[in-house]
Amino acid sequence: MDQARQAILRPRQAAYLEGLGPARAELLLEMEELARRKNLTISAPPVGRLLSILVQATAARRVLEIGTGIGYACVSLTSGSESVRVTSIDRDAEMLRIATGFIERCEVAERVELLCGEAVDQLRSVQGPYDMCFIDTDPRDCRRCLDLGLQVLRVGGLVIANNLLWRGLVAEPGLEGDRDSEDMRAFGGYFVMYPQLESIVLPVAGGVGLAVKSTHLTTDVGGPF
Ligand SMILES: C[S@@+](CC[C@H](N)C(=O)[O-])C[C@H]1O[C@@H](n2cnc3c(N)ncnc32)[C@H](O)[C@@H]1O
Repeated sequence: MDQARQAILRPRQAAYLEGLGPARAELLLEMEELARRKNLTISAPPVGRLLSILVQATAARRVLEIGTGIGYACVSLTSGSESVRVTSIDRDAEMLRIATGFIERCEVAERVELLCGEAVDQLRSVQGPYDMCFIDTDPRDCRRCLDLGLQVLRVGGLVIANNLLWRGLVAEPGLEGDRDSEDMRAFGGYFVMYPQLESIVLPVAGGVGLAVKSTHLTTDVGGPF
């Protein structure tokens, strides 16, 4: 399927929104340029902006990110508030090396903890409670990451899941054999049906799931019994 058909927003509307601004910080533009040049995946700029606004609006103090990449979301999240701290997990040491450089350059290194390893392993050892959890990882791991992330998220905390529309492909018929799209479609269903979440999927960039953890999990109260 060609790029134009995969686009969720039509080009003219996308250009209009890009023109509306606000202008992004130089460092973010540099990260976007690096991602373009090296074909690296980062959050779309409106997702970074949304994360920053959500941190401000909720006065979040502790954010857990699953999938650091080159640190675009870390930079966006820490720009939302001077008191927010971010724990971010990635299994790719080279990505974390690049992320560290950007995080140091925007002088927020003392507020960002980067953990290297498989998300499901690292998630078993992080200490909650977190106020916000941003899931931006391999589609096949998202459901387990959500289960584990929710165990360290406080009641009332937010979950943000990136790319739920997977470039629009999850809505296309005939996904057989496209494992990533099938996994992301399954994750989208899991996300919106999760009993402890009140959720919505926003058609922002590649689709952003936004949810609040509205009640305790059985594990929060010592279960399952
Ligand atoms: C889309 S990028 C993250 C982008 C980043 N959140 C941002 O805002 O720029 C996804 C990252 O998840 C990491 N990743 C994928 N599956 C993972 C897993 N199972 N455990 C840990 N990291 C994983 C990849 O190495 C990659 O750097």
